[in-house]
Amino acid sequence: IPGKLAATPPMGWSSWNKFAEDIDDATVRAMADAMAASGLRDAGYTYINIDDGWQGKRDASGMLHPNAKFPDMKALTDYVHSKGLKIGIYSSQGPRTCAGYEGSYGHVQQDAQTFADWGFDYLKYDLCSGEWFYADADTVKRSYYEMGAALRATGRDILYSLCEYGRFEVGSWGRYVGGELWRTTGDITDDYKTMAQIGFDHNGNPAHTGPHGWNDPDMLEVGNGGMSTEEYRTHMTLWAMSAAPLMMGHDLRETTPETLALLTNPRVIAVDQDVRGIQGTAMRKQGTMEVWAKPLVDGRVVLALFNRGEEAAEMALTPADAGLATVSGVEDLWSGQQADALPASYTVPAHGTVMIAVHG
Ligand code: DGJ
Repeated sequence: IPGKLAATPPMGWSSWNKFAEDIDDATVRAMADAMAASGLRDAGYTYINIDDGWQGKRDASGMLHPNAKFPDMKALTDYVHSKGLKIGIYSSQGPRTCAGYEGSYGHVQQDAQTFADWGFDYLKYDLCSGEWFYADADTVKRSYYEMGAALRATGRDILYSLCEYGRFEVGSWGRYVGGELWRTTGDITDDYKTMAQIGFDHNGNPAHTGPHGWNDPDMLEVGNGGMSTEEYRTHMTLWAMSAAPLMMGHDLRETTPETLALLTNPRVIAVDQDVRGIQGTAMRKQGTMEVWAKPLVDGRVVLALFNRGEEAAEMALTPADAGLATVSGVEDLWSGQQADALPASYTVPAHGTVMIAVHG
């Protein structure tokens, strides 16, 4: 049952990175309001996703109800939809979710139907609960297939996000259990070291990513305060070069102009959302520097120059980095500045990046 949604990497917001279990109906509504009012929605961010911590208890019929912080799920999804947005929910296949709430064990079809009836458009399905966390490949794959098939059987378009941290080469089977995206790593945290480890080295096998099925190096930390603007720019650049899902993870009410500029740069988003869906890769490494390339549908090639070191460094880009004999047009994607030729070299700040699109 190949995934059929997400022709380009999904974009939105998820509650976990900032709020963890501290979420409620009012906060989710406030995020939808902020998404619409800030310009984030119009930049392409669509999903408002509730992560772990919404669940209450099952009733005698086995139906799962939200906890007291979410009095009326149907009213909440209606509200988010009225803002021109979509809304997501979360579960996992074991008896307990990672934060200890009620999981979907023994109630997979029933929960899928409940999520559809409530009006959800997205499900993140985690891998938690002791023995499930350590389960073998067949068990894990079967559990994701079971929920994928149950979602499909509801008849509602529900985007399906697999969260099993890249186990068992998930990219090679994720789309066949109905998944439109699958995590490739453990959890991101709001620091340069973790972000860089994931973004440079654990963003998944590029052969597995593409329209309707995406490697997911985890949600964004942009705007949460643990990295510098330059480091967050590197975070965005890495995710865009990787054609990664762009799920924001900060309090949208506290989006500063600087954060907004990082999250809504139309040229950078266009790289992430390019319909060819190619995951860019490192073409060349030299000391602390890495040169990445990502071909676009319009024939241009995006080159990103990263400095993983602690000091500013200089490096040249060449037409060969883009597989070209000559370069006759250069667009700096962060600034929008255009030029006819590559400069002799670029100075890249510590932990920083330069991102350009070139054509022959
Ligand atoms: C582990 C996942 O990787 C996180 O993104 C988050 O969903 C938590 N579980 C929730 O418990």
